Amino acid sequence: MTILPSHLSSLSRLSRTLAGKAYQNARYFILVDENTYNHCLARLVSKVVPLQEAEFMEVPIGEECKDIAIATQLWETLLESGADRDSVLVNLGGGCVSDLGGFVASGYKRGIRYINIPTTLIGMIDAAIGGKTALNLDGYKNQIGFFNAPDIVCIEPTFLDTLPDKELFSGTFEMLKTFMIGDPEQYHHLCDMLLGGNLEIQPDMIARCAEIKDAVVKKDPKDKGIRHILNLGHTFGHGIEAHSHQIGNPFTHGEAVGVGMICALYLSVRKLGLPQAILDNYRNVASKMVELPHYSLKETEEILTYMRQDKKNADGEIRCVLLQELGAPVIDLAVDENEIRDALLKIS
Ligand code: GLY
Repeated sequence: MTILPSHLSSLSRLSRTLAGKAYQNARYFILVDENTYNHCLARLVSKVVPLQEAEFMEVPIGEECKDIAIATQLWETLLESGADRDSVLVNLGGGCVSDLGGFVASGYKRGIRYINIPTTLIGMIDAAIGGKTALNLDGYKNQIGFFNAPDIVCIEPTFLDTLPDKELFSGTFEMLKTFMIGDPEQYHHLCDMLLGGNLEIQPDMIARCAEIKDAVVKKDPKDKGIRHILNLGHTFGHGIEAHSHQIGNPFTHGEAVGVGMICALYLSVRKLGLPQAILDNYRNVASKMVELPHYSLKETEEILTYMRQDKKNADGEIRCVLLQELGAPVIDLAVDENEIRDALLKIS
């Protein structure tokens, strides 16, 4: 996998790469949703000359597109259009588009190449990198999929202009997570920026996050061990996210993970001796980007019910990633349900 790093000429570099020998027989198909069709597609094809003849395929926005019926329609369209094994699928969008597109490319004629061009911050620093492809099944997220890396991930930060603030905050929480596990200096820098009211995400910060994610994936491409560090805040976050949808006041994925990281840091202080000041500072940063919830006892039970279904649990125990120090995550720690209740009650 090649990552074309985030600087303002990433699309021009992609254009040159696609004009090279490795792609001389390629026919391109671009996967978009309504947002990226309206806001990103014209910009992409104007900058990347080899894509000017591409056919495009549009899918519904969000998780709804990660469905086997939609994957089948896309396979049928590829077949009817005569796509062969040299064809390349270009996924232009956020994590849902790259999850679906990666899945479709991996299955079509036993696998064609695909390129991810993330248009969201979460996509640029996480979802588009690492070869996890996925569909949902019977209402459960990411139950079917392959590990299959994209040929290229092209990160073009100017696509972030098309995003609403809520989406940018969502990605900023994932960025804080990545720096918490992989680059304490950048973590402090980003916290200081956010506390000072500066929300301008710099391309070099995106590039650094992409590099950290890529390095983790290279050590554990099939997610058997060390890659779990990327799930800091996610066991709590998934429960918090699902509960927020249940009560009709939904958090974005990144917001829920951001709140979940408060719980993970709270337990890290108690179980692993993480300094309290790190928790206090992070809670302060998070509160600038999202309203921190106050859960009742009943709500903590509802969240726990969701957390018991987490894929990372084993032997009937809930497993979390915690931090010994910034830059020193510990994976697969069994956490007692009373500790979880306590952490959820102490978020704000
Ligand atoms: N988003 C976590 C991972 O790719 O493993």
